[in-house]
Amino acid sequence: MNCKELSQTDVKIPEIGLGTWNYEGGVHPLRTGIDLGARFIDTAESYGTEEVVGQATKGIRDNVFLATKVRPRHFRRADVIKSAEQSLKRLNTDYIDLYQLHWSNYLVPITETMAAMEELVEMGKIRFIGVSNFSVREIRQAQGALSKNKIVSVQVRYSVVDRTVERDLLEYCQTNRITLIAFSPLDLGMNNIERYDRDDILGQVAGEVGKTRAQVALNWCISHDAVVAIPKANQSEHVRENCRASGWQLEPAQLKVLDQGVHFRQRGALESAGRRLARRIVQTFGRSI
Ligand SMILES: NC(=O)c1ccc[n+]([C@@H]2O[C@H](COP(=O)([O-])OP(=O)(O)OC[C@H]3O[C@@H](n4cnc5c(N)ncnc54)[C@H](OP(=O)(O)O)[C@@H]3O)[C@@H](O)[C@H]2O)c1
Repeated sequence: MNCKELSQTDVKIPEIGLGTWNYEGGVHPLRTGIDLGARFIDTAESYGTEEVVGQATKGIRDNVFLATKVRPRHFRRADVIKSAEQSLKRLNTDYIDLYQLHWSNYLVPITETMAAMEELVEMGKIRFIGVSNFSVREIRQAQGALSKNKIVSVQVRYSVVDRTVERDLLEYCQTNRITLIAFSPLDLGMNNIERYDRDDILGQVAGEVGKTRAQVALNWCISHDAVVAIPKANQSEHVRENCRASGWQLEPAQLKVLDQGVHFRQRGALESAGRRLARRIVQTFGRSI
């Protein structure tokens, strides 16, 4: 398993981690991944999977890089602290490696939330601060609200069939040395990827390199500077396959074939703004998120 530096921290994290949204595999697949070098697990207070992550890392906690998230409705100072403490309990640990703001909250000032995050760093409860589903503008504001710490990561959707981040966020992360954690790198399942890849370009490249389509899709993701990916797999067999997406490299010509041949989505600025507006409306009218 190859590793990449987390931002400019000197900490190396595996380029393939283990996602746990909708995870129902129990301890074994996570342990399999850790044993194969995927010593980076992503969870969230809203996933209901922190306990199983705690069980899977019992006795080997210091060998694993643990990332979790606080949900927007807990972005007030006291709630951030409380959420972190509850996550620590569920994860059965006394520190979180990467604590991420799950989405923006348009009602709570980012200065308040980030001050609480810095308090957590000072208390030794979290090591690094990250954000998720933030736009470039929101990242800049969040960074501006921090006095001593740097945002080390941005977790966003990125796959060979969803290249929205290539509009501006990927380059922003690469230029500013922020790690981009690609979520849904298999677009929530190979059937979704195959629906876009109508000419089976992934299959052609997979045949050339002697890998599977999923491995090619993941290797395409992590071939980008500053990008790591966190596929989720209930099945240990999938975990094994995904871990073997690291340790080799697609040739530049193969990357070009994938770039040009696989159909993909890329949301425009207007659509992204519309989605943010919808989220703001939901938050304003108090629906639970
Ligand atoms: N920050 C956010 O807002 C956010 C949003 C979404 C996701 N995430 C994070 O990103 C992680 C991954 O994203 P995701 O769960 O949305 O989707 P994903 O990883 O793109 O896809 C998961 C699906 O792919 C299947 N799969 C995994 N490996 C496979 C393989 N080698 N061959 C064929 N199928 C394979 C899994 O099957 P099995 O389970 O049956 O093995 C599962 O159905 C999440 O678990 C979560 O940690 C974050």
